[in-house]
Amino acid sequence: MTFADWARYFRANHAHLADLSWDDPYQLTQREKRAAGRSLQHFQRFETSEGQQLQRRAAALPDPEYAAAIRGLISEEGDHSLALGRFLDQQGLPRLRRSWVNTAFRGLRRWGSLETTVRVLLTAEVVGTVYFRALYHASFSGLLQQLSLRIIRDEQMHVNFQCFTLTQLRPRASRLGWGLRQLLHGGLTAGTALVVWLCFNRTLWAGGMGPVGFFAAVAEEWDRACALLRHPETICINPPRTPQRPVAERAA
Ligand SMILES: [Fe+2]
Ligand SMILES: [Fe+2]
Repeated sequence: MTFADWARYFRANHAHLADLSWDDPYQLTQREKRAAGRSLQHFQRFETSEGQQLQRRAAALPDPEYAAAIRGLISEEGDHSLALGRFLDQQGLPRLRRSWVNTAFRGLRRWGSLETTVRVLLTAEVVGTVYFRALYHASFSGLLQQLSLRIIRDEQMHVNFQCFTLTQLRPRASRLGWGLRQLLHGGLTAGTALVVWLCFNRTLWAGGMGPVGFFAAVAEEWDRACALLRHPETICINPPRTPQRPVAERAA
């Protein structure tokens, strides 16, 4: 596997959100809006990233295909933002011009090396995957469910991509340094999960995730990422043929 494979993947996956049921007339109920609206607004803003820091740092890996893959990744995140924004528009929910979630993560990405930036992004992919699983169950909107499934699949591939990038950076690190950074990274992921729970637990509850279920799901996704880092040969590129069914079960 090379970064050229990833660049090809992102190119092939481009515009895959265009064929969703955008003509779905379903309007979220007031209850659904209260449950999911605010988190949707923040995640829509969060998906908007110019990726300038990442593109600048990409030079640390002297592989032109890495830069191409990064462009594909940024474009895909932009597609998520556009699609979520279109959904917000359809539902009469205003788009946020600013989100503190976005600001905080942007600050973290600016700090440190390419490895730090990739680790921060990986944290966002891990926690985001679990959030969208809950979102899938949080409303009866067929369009929002389709959107959530596509984004879950994409984010899982982003986890694979970021793990692949880290495995390419690993030979530069000492064993002790790598182990310490893994520990810190686990702490960052746990802290991010806590913040997401505190801020957006309405959506998580509505999606059938209580605190135990949510933190267990994040831990499971984090463990998957760690396993990919330990066994890089298991990192795959092709998305699953059928999107993975979210693990959360809708609350009765
Ligand atoms: Fe995304
Ligand atoms: Fe992502």
